[in-house]
Amino acid sequence: MQPFMFVTDLDNTFVGDDQALVELSQKLSQHRQEYGTKIVYATGRSLFLYQELKESKNLLDPDALVVAVGTEIYLNGSQVPDSHWSEKLSAGWNKEVVLSTTADFPELVPQPDSEQGAFKVSFFLKEADSAKVLPQLESKLKTAGLDIKLIYSSGIDLDIVPISSDKGQAMQFLRQKWNFVAERTVACGDSGNDIALFAAGEERGIIVGNARPELLEWHHDNPREHRYLAKDVCAGGILEGLKYFGLME
Ligand code: GLC
Ligand code: MG
Repeated sequence: MQPFMFVTDLDNTFVGDDQALVELSQKLSQHRQEYGTKIVYATGRSLFLYQELKESKNLLDPDALVVAVGTEIYLNGSQVPDSHWSEKLSAGWNKEVVLSTTADFPELVPQPDSEQGAFKVSFFLKEADSAKVLPQLESKLKTAGLDIKLIYSSGIDLDIVPISSDKGQAMQFLRQKWNFVAERTVACGDSGNDIALFAAGEERGIIVGNARPELLEWHHDNPREHRYLAKDVCAGGILEGLKYFGLME
């Protein structure tokens, strides 16, 4: 067995089936100890909400933590976001202009303060309003001169982030830092903000069996040999996919 880089979303992917989570965590921890496998969590949560989940589910310490949909990367348990990554995100980003532009849209309901970041502005947006609001909002933000990206997940969460930021680009940043080839990198997810993980390049992908329609639709429109759609849900689906790719027994 050889090391690989394991990247996973948390809510409804790594976390969601407590029994399978224990089994997967044990296997990953052992693989890390024996072969130097790296464990990365890539979540939409802020550091604050991540820590809540970490405690309640007793999560393994990751080698790197990607929070706020890729806008902050914490290496080796550090409490300070990686500055190389933050510098990369500053270009074309202006939080004040994002806030003043979004204020024109009554459909956008701000998420709690804990979920607003230096490079992430987040709202709740009803699915029924999304088809109308998203294109209008995107064009207004671009007209205001911003290089941003809208990420809509789970039929409710809207994140506005710099164009150079998402979970997939954060994964590639880490992969290059640690020298893992795409064939030995695997990403797992269930919803819209995970599409970037699967679209980044040739990395192996595991879509869990309980994936949201927005991810499944995208997967059917963009099928790839190196992406596996699991039958089982959450961590059980991840175990299934790791076997499928021959990364773990
Ligand atoms: C998490 C975050 C939220 C974000 C969502 C989707 O729930 O707390 O801010 O909008 O993920 O990325
Ligand atoms: Mg999720």
